[in-house]
Amino acid sequence: MQIDLLAGVRSDSPMRTEEFVWGVATSSYQIEGAVDLDGRIDSIWDSFCRQPGKILDASSGAEACDHYHRYLDDLDLIKSLGFTSYRFSVAWPRVLDEQQQPNEAGLAFYERLINAMLERDLEPMLTLYHWDLPDYLQHQGGWSNPEVPHMFASYARLLIQRFGDRVSKWSTLNEPWCSSFLSFDLGLHAPGMTDRYEALRVGRGLLLGHGLAIAAMRREKPDAELGVVINPDLVFAASDSASDKLAAERAQTERNDFWMNPLTGQCPPACLDLPQLKMSELFSESDLLTIAQPLDFIGINFYTRSIVKVSDNIRGYEPVIIPDVERTHIGWEVYPDALESLLKLLHQNWPMPAWYITENGAATDDALVDGECDDQQRQRYFQSHLAAVDCAQAEGVPVKGYYAWSLMDNFEWAEGYTQRFGIVYVDYETQRRYPKGSALAFKRFLTAQG
Ligand code: FCB
Repeated sequence: MQIDLLAGVRSDSPMRTEEFVWGVATSSYQIEGAVDLDGRIDSIWDSFCRQPGKILDASSGAEACDHYHRYLDDLDLIKSLGFTSYRFSVAWPRVLDEQQQPNEAGLAFYERLINAMLERDLEPMLTLYHWDLPDYLQHQGGWSNPEVPHMFASYARLLIQRFGDRVSKWSTLNEPWCSSFLSFDLGLHAPGMTDRYEALRVGRGLLLGHGLAIAAMRREKPDAELGVVINPDLVFAASDSASDKLAAERAQTERNDFWMNPLTGQCPPACLDLPQLKMSELFSESDLLTIAQPLDFIGINFYTRSIVKVSDNIRGYEPVIIPDVERTHIGWEVYPDALESLLKLLHQNWPMPAWYITENGAATDDALVDGECDDQQRQRYFQSHLAAVDCAQAEGVPVKGYYAWSLMDNFEWAEGYTQRFGIVYVDYETQRRYPKGSALAFKRFLTAQG
């Protein structure tokens, strides 16, 4: 059965016009491989993957999709599917050495990659930090070390000096909630700590790094399009009880307001205070001035919604898994309405000139049969979520583009290679790529349009 991805999107929708950006997304550690080549140093993910029990299938990104060597074919593939933009990330540990001096061999890879995008008429959207912090910096305290946000700003300045003439769209951070709460409170991502106080300090450090980087990049290139990518959430209470409702509010505040408030100059709400750390102490007035730089866009990564109930743990909430709903292979509920509601809620509370969907997609139980992969559930997932974006737009949210996660199957962090999010199937034995049904559905729509 062929699925029309845009069934459900209005025929006069801005999504059907040429201005709307259609892209695919990836990140450095998840696809590049070549972790020891050309002077790249360890990131926190290299060392995390070496620790037993951290990655479900005991794998790592050491080889991943070998994109470092196959990038030309990968870009050809993106182009052949009809996308016009490619969201990728630069690995900080590839481009700066331990003395924080430029590593020319690493920079040369991104130079080749970016030039090859332009040769194919693909617009680069560059992410500076998709979680691969140089490992030696974590040994110096990582993002809660006050020097690290400044080092991040120097890294941002170097990159915009080198590539600002060819890259117009820049995001500082990808999903800082994951690099703080998921990594330092829940301990599921590198470096795997369980200390909520540290998670909050890391969150502040990431935001400061973002603000300093934006200011540095603006000085270098005033006309660049600059933003940040977050993963906000719509959180539902498991029951009508006042305590569950409060728990849901806390969880949602951690995912949304903790980031959006400082980005727009306000302190996060006091419901996130810990016994020995108030939000008003964590963020000084001067921090908020540094963080709240004018932005051209905010990118939203969206996969599912959450349901929580009250808990006496330090967070005040815990997740609840409800039965009898559609889920993807990774266990996440399919709930497209939350994408529409979330976009409306964000734009109402923290209006922005533009929003991009910088990631959206599904892990499904894919099988390759005679070189084909009929990923019906993923196709339905894209269809329903594109319709949700269209509804939000019709209600006035300026969404300017949509990036599918991901171009191809890749290293899915703590899940290793057990989850396939690609619209292109990767046979890791041969590194051959096979466009799945969803890739072909995008191609049908995008090439018919252009
Ligand atoms: C997001 C990450 C991305 C990928 C998807 C499935 O949280 O930004 O790297 O792992 O989830």
